[in-house]
Formats: sequence, structure tokens, C-alpha cells
Amino acid sequence: MSVERTLSILKPDVIAKNVVGQVIARIESAGLKVIAARMTHLTQAEAEGFYAVHRERPFFGDLVKFMISGPVVVMTLEGENAVATYRDIMGATDPKKAAAGTIRADFADSIDENAVHGSDSLENAANEIAYFFRSIELCPRTR
Ligand code: TYD
Repeated sequence: MSVERTLSILKPDVIAKNVVGQVIARIESAGLKVIAARMTHLTQAEAEGFYAVHRERPFFGDLVKFMISGPVVVMTLEGENAVATYRDIMGATDPKKAAAGTIRADFADSIDENAVHGSDSLENAANEIAYFFRSIELCPRTR
């Protein structure tokens, strides 16, 4: 086990449904700590840059459109095995396939409006955290 950091985004559907607190409660219950958080309305360039790896995928245009359709909450999470722990509580990309009790099973409506983003590897986590936060904005817990 090792202490890791991962990037979480609460997508515009979570903000629209007014369940930001409920999703953060799931994160905290899993033992993950919020060490940075910001609400922001992404520009098209910011959303395209964040999802650049998916640029050639057929869903890219709709994904970007959704991500800029309203504000999001971006957070850095810290904890034991944070990358896998957060992916576990998020559930599968398609909420119809997500395990019962996961964030996507309970709060997402469809594969393209699926409530949350979570980094899928430690390497991507480091890059994604740096995309949104300067190191001085990260507040590791001392107690
Ligand atoms: P992906 O990285 O495959 O999933 P995850 O978010 O679980 O890591 O895809 C990124 C996002 O792209 C996904 O959260 C929602 C969107 N997406 C679609 O809209 N349609 C699709 O068929 C897929 C695979 C993803």
C-alpha cells in the first residue's frame, strides 16, 4: 500500500443535480482526503486539452460539449492506493454496467453523462493534477 494522489472531476451533471456533497461524502467515506478543490466552468480549449488523448474517438465532440455545459468541481484526492480506490468507488464508465453502490450507478444517467472523472494510472494522475493545480495549491494533511 502506498499513499497516492489522483485527480477527480465532478462533472456538470453532478453540479446540476445538486449532489456535490453526496459525491464528496462517498469519497471521504472511502478514506480519501480532498487536498485541493476548485469549482470552474471549463473553456472549450481547457476541456479539449484535458481529454486530448480521446481526440480521435467518435464521442470526443459530445464529451467536450458536455464538459463545458456547466461548472465542474476539480479536486485532488490523497490516500492509500488513491488511484484504484477512487476508480473502485466511481464504478464502470457506463453506469448501466457499474456495480451497485458506486457513484456512477447511483448518480449517472448515461455513459456520456457519467458524473465523475478519475485518473486511470499514477502517471496520468500526476499529469492531470498538474493540468489543474499548481503545487502550491495542494494542501496535504498534517493531521
Ligand atoms: P474513458 O477514459 O474510456 O472512461 P473513464 O472516464 O471511465 O476513465 O472515457 C472518458 C470519458 O469519455 C467517459 O467518462 C465518458 C466519455 N465516453 C463516452 O461518452 N462514450 C464512450 O463510449 C466512452 C468509452 C467514453
